Amino acid sequence: MRIVILGSGRGSNAEAILLAQSAGRLGRARVVQIFSDRPDAGILALGSRFGVPARFVDPAPFKTKLEGEGETRWIAAIRACEPGLVVLAGFMRVLKPGFLEVFAGKIINLHPSLLPSFPGLDGIGQALRAGVKVTGCTVHYVTLEVDAGKIIEQSRVPVEPGDTLATLTAKIHAAEHALLPAVIARLSETVAE
Ligand code: GAR
Repeated sequence: MRIVILGSGRGSNAEAILLAQSAGRLGRARVVQIFSDRPDAGILALGSRFGVPARFVDPAPFKTKLEGEGETRWIAAIRACEPGLVVLAGFMRVLKPGFLEVFAGKIINLHPSLLPSFPGLDGIGQALRAGVKVTGCTVHYVTLEVDAGKIIEQSRVPVEPGDTLATLTAKIHAAEHALLPAVIARLSETVAE
């Protein structure tokens, strides 16, 4: 299964996927391309390290969504990779119907909370402020409503007394780094190309 990873940030989850692949723990999945909407994103540096093509695709004209000319460029770039699965690993843009229709049922997203709790921005901070005793991370299919698509798998992270945004973030990232490669491996064994 050909995997394309989209990310906007440092790329620790993309790194976890690529490390799993190197260790033979990604099932029948193979990362064929990394794309970022930010030319300076850390995720792009993974390309040379792991021997995977990685490049910036211009998302203009919008700042927080992929629509119009930017959406057209992104659809063309991803389509050319013939992906079996498009993985959003810290991709901080809202996807619109045109994009979702082209890759229908093939886009998954990682979110740092136990959805449906705490969707949207700052899922970790939202959980901390709400005082929940357990939070975690979710991998789900992407649909038009943000962070509301069918849940594939979740991992729970207890919130300990004294946890700060920094300590809780570190624990959730560790949970994400285990969860996302495991979900991709499983999907690669079960989803038809
Ligand atoms: C991850 O914690 C992921 O759950 C979050 O961005 C981070 C990316 O980290 N995604 C969202 O908040 C999506 N709404 P990374 O760039 O180190 O993988």
